[in-house]
Amino acid sequence: MNARLLWLGTALLSNALLMSCIKRTQDTAPPAAAAAHVQQPVKAGGVSTAPPATLPEGVTIKDKYRDFFPVGVAVGQKHLDDASVREIITTHFNRLTAENAMKFGELAPREGGYNWKEADAIAQFARDHQMAMTGHTLVWHRQAPGWLFTGLEPKNPQSIETLKTRLKAHIDTIIPRYADVVDNWDVVNVAISDDSRQAYRDESEGSRFFGIFGNEEYVYWASKFAPDAYEKHAPGSAAGKLYYNDYNVNLKLDRILPLLDAVKKRGAPVDGIGMQMHIRLDWPSIEELDRTMQGIIDAGYKIKVSELDVSLYNDYPGGKFKAAPAVDFTPELAEAQAKRYADLFALFRKHAEHVTSVTLWGVSDESTWLDNEPVPGRNNHPLLFDDQHRPKAAARAILEL
Ligand code: GLA
Repeated sequence: MNARLLWLGTALLSNALLMSCIKRTQDTAPPAAAAAHVQQPVKAGGVSTAPPATLPEGVTIKDKYRDFFPVGVAVGQKHLDDASVREIITTHFNRLTAENAMKFGELAPREGGYNWKEADAIAQFARDHQMAMTGHTLVWHRQAPGWLFTGLEPKNPQSIETLKTRLKAHIDTIIPRYADVVDNWDVVNVAISDDSRQAYRDESEGSRFFGIFGNEEYVYWASKFAPDAYEKHAPGSAAGKLYYNDYNVNLKLDRILPLLDAVKKRGAPVDGIGMQMHIRLDWPSIEELDRTMQGIIDAGYKIKVSELDVSLYNDYPGGKFKAAPAVDFTPELAEAQAKRYADLFALFRKHAEHVTSVTLWGVSDESTWLDNEPVPGRNNHPLLFDDQHRPKAAARAILEL
């Protein structure tokens, strides 16, 4: 086993152990994590035996849903470099999210040393194809650079000020750079705990932001710095652009809403909630997702579906991590997934008035973070196009809806 795989394995094992120590709501989805940028091991197990689907003639996904919401896709440089992937992107999607390139640690691996190459290339591709982008993300406990926390001590007033200064400098730098093409930002990503008994993700769940502040204050400050940066750039231009983004929102909404309401009460705007939607074939139910969306709407927030994919596997039976064995992606599984996608898009359409965008977390099954998490090297088939970039039954199903 090479060092990278060993590292990944150790990280996943410790995550699994941690997760098993936490009381989790029955049968939850895995916590979304962030190894999509890690070089992928050779795929093994769980090949596709499903034939490609034939799409209805002359219909594209973006046109099919044009009257309801824009449909986006998460991309990196590797997608832009591949002609057949580019073709799918420009044919079927009308917005983009950078899968990794706009994360803090990718943009600013060294203090003051910005690496704009990939993010700029994606933004330029969006401009060239008249697409808008989702900015992902200003504050997240993962893929944050080490220097951001260097020299800082938990709950130390001076350290808190330093972290605020560093955060503000970053937000002031990135917002104006992409203000012409990014129409909304995930201001804060994943601040709520996986443990349903506690509100916020703390240092024990990996948040150095929470650790230094000693509480969830960083959510307020990010939510203030973002509109301030827009205000400086072009007064009034922040309106409608600022989202809180998280996974398993169906399990977290009763903790997300008080957090956002408190931020707003202090004068910082929050316009909407991103439901990541890293979900499974069999969980959560459409009824549960419907209730969650209605809850967001009733609380006065817009919704975006920000990172949709549909995993084949349940690695948390009864709430505890237990890796499911790889299965082949059979024609039957392809049809079950197609039905799931159709049900989901019908639900999004039902709430279309409040849904500002729906974004798939990847173009094709050739490249998906779910091939490596939470089980490295196990093929998953969560997206609309297959390993060979051919349309799947799921793509057909949402076009026939
Ligand atoms: C989280 C993040 C995404 C991505 C996914 C999967 O949900 O928001 O950027 O990293 O995990 O890796």
